[in-house]
Amino acid sequence: MSATLIGQPLTRVDGKLKVTGKATYAAEFQRPKLAYGALIQTTIGNGRVVKIDLSPAKSAPGVIGILTRGNAPQFKAYPEDLTKNGAPGESRVPLQDDNVYWVGQHLGVVVAETFEQAMHAASLVRVQYEAKPPLVSLTDANPVQPEKFIGRERLQAKRGDVNAALATAAHKIDVVYSTPIENHNPIETTSTTVEWEAPDRLLIHESTRGIKQLQKIVANAFGLPRENVRIICKFIGGAFGSKGFQWSHTLLAAAAARLVQRPVKITFARPQMFDSAGQRARTEQHFSLGADQTGKLVALRHATTTHCSPVSEYTEPCGNMSRMLYSCPNVEVSHRLVRLNLTTPCPMRAPGEAPGVFALECALDELAHSADIDPVDFRVRNYAESNEYENKPWSNKKLRQCYQRAAEKFGWSKRNKKPGAMRTVDGAQIGFGMATAIYPAGQRTAGATAILNKDKTVTVRSATHETGTGSYTTMSQCAADTLGIPIEKVRFELGDSEFPEAPNNGGSWLTSSVAPAVMGACRELKKKVADLAGGWPNDSAHLANILARSGQDQIQADFNSEPNREEREKFSFFSYGALFVEVHVDLLGQARVKRAVGVYDMGRMINPRLARSQIMGGMLFGFSMALMEETIPDEKTGRIVNSNLADYHVVVHADTPTFDIDFINEPDPHMPDLGARGIGEIGIVGAPAAVANAIFNATGKRVRDLPITPDKLT
Ligand code: MOS
Repeated sequence: MSATLIGQPLTRVDGKLKVTGKATYAAEFQRPKLAYGALIQTTIGNGRVVKIDLSPAKSAPGVIGILTRGNAPQFKAYPEDLTKNGAPGESRVPLQDDNVYWVGQHLGVVVAETFEQAMHAASLVRVQYEAKPPLVSLTDANPVQPEKFIGRERLQAKRGDVNAALATAAHKIDVVYSTPIENHNPIETTSTTVEWEAPDRLLIHESTRGIKQLQKIVANAFGLPRENVRIICKFIGGAFGSKGFQWSHTLLAAAAARLVQRPVKITFARPQMFDSAGQRARTEQHFSLGADQTGKLVALRHATTTHCSPVSEYTEPCGNMSRMLYSCPNVEVSHRLVRLNLTTPCPMRAPGEAPGVFALECALDELAHSADIDPVDFRVRNYAESNEYENKPWSNKKLRQCYQRAAEKFGWSKRNKKPGAMRTVDGAQIGFGMATAIYPAGQRTAGATAILNKDKTVTVRSATHETGTGSYTTMSQCAADTLGIPIEKVRFELGDSEFPEAPNNGGSWLTSSVAPAVMGACRELKKKVADLAGGWPNDSAHLANILARSGQDQIQADFNSEPNREEREKFSFFSYGALFVEVHVDLLGQARVKRAVGVYDMGRMINPRLARSQIMGGMLFGFSMALMEETIPDEKTGRIVNSNLADYHVVVHADTPTFDIDFINEPDPHMPDLGARGIGEIGIVGAPAAVANAIFNATGKRVRDLPITPDKLT
């Protein structure tokens, strides 16, 4: 047996492929006779298409064919489980009717010999509309009360009597926080290459973090058996919530490929990432919070208004952590949904938790300040010993240790609680701020297969994804550790819909779902080999003999892992963290995060190097959300005015502070096998609030509307 690989800070097994440019991304696949598609998109935000004039486009250089509603197939509706109860993604297949719901909606595809020719020809398509004024502001339309988030989480919750408790509270606040529309903006834009290998068989290379779901969607839309559609995606250049749902480009590319009888590739230009691949909805969050003399919370009301498109019902679930992050007897959480003429929103980097915990953690800071209690102390006084919303004990919660260790590492005791009291030598104001981080620890059903080859290497396969976070590496670690062989002898393969079923990559559940499947398959393989050989063979000659005797080239074992329903019923599963930041606000009102300390309890850490990297990325997203990111629709036309990376700002290396990231690293006794919980999104959660709270400490200004740009600080 090798020493355990679990917990080792290994470098990425796919690192070399990436830095040498050998890792192939969706847009890079070449096929013989490949043609390029460009989407035809609406230029108005509300109304109806009256007529499409294709003639100038048809005669443009290189054009092979044009798909519109007139010559498109009738796609079968998306499967109901993907469209009901507030599920994310588009609820209607493309080209259903002539209605226009937002700017950028797809009307067809121009196919040409080159990408540039296709884009040019698409720009020549003339559309005549019957236009109505678009609704793009949260106050424009009548809200509805959505019931559920993705068919699971309830969006309205109430316990106790909030009004009565607020009436007698010694300390209270009543304020509104707001967050803008934000877009995912991975470096790799969405891309699909679709090829009809036979009249009833499709091969698709797509940048997707949901290969099995896409397979199901495409097969269903074209009325094909599922196994006739193969989706391949070996690497993803970031997704952050996009690339996991039904957007219309894949079906349009497939229809266009059939029309021109050639493989067709559609790769989004940057502006299309703002109107064709989801986004985070705008939120307005009304917060009422009350505490008694001793600083114990007595009332919490978190009322969110957010938006969706006219043809979907996805709700950014801002209030869900407010139900249970702190102990409080009187709680009301509600969500109202407004339909706007904007593209359909979807999960983005901790959907709900990121904007919702921004509001919650700022509200805590505001109340702590008005009660003159230290913000960390205030949180500890209101520590939830159990989940008071679900009435369940936590599976394992070491949040107290997170506060304590992070505060010590940061030097929180040196904070001057008086706003505006600390300055750098060159006059910038210094602020210290902190916030709690929390994210649900999910687990899904997943399968894996493990194959022992003649050369004593083991191939392990699962239809999961590599979004850049390290799945290849952690799964190789889990496999090699279970088998007791060096990691070099293991090859982990993913990103092919022919591999065993794995869930969409999201909700921070990849590792906790797929690792048990991988480890299970490896255990089964060991058993099989041991049964054949009377033990796990430790030399290749012996192994070759066994294979020869058994008449096989390889030995294969499969395993399916399921969440343990009993444990899930009994306990409440979350990951936790505490983060502290130092922010400097210069004389021009520009805020910069200089130092960030985070301590996280996420169960057992499988690879602390990758985990640190993941948390660092998450925090940077949080800082980006706090200080920069904002998608701006024009009020009159509904067009996004900053749909490019020059005008839509995200943090870059120059914005990176000094990080100190640490883990409690205690296995969760109620999670399977390793006791690992999800680490994907928690780094984002709390980060915007920590920054806003630090800015208050620096300047005395409480900015409740993100992003906190210089105009709001001067
Ligand atoms: Mo997350 S955007 O729920 O994967």
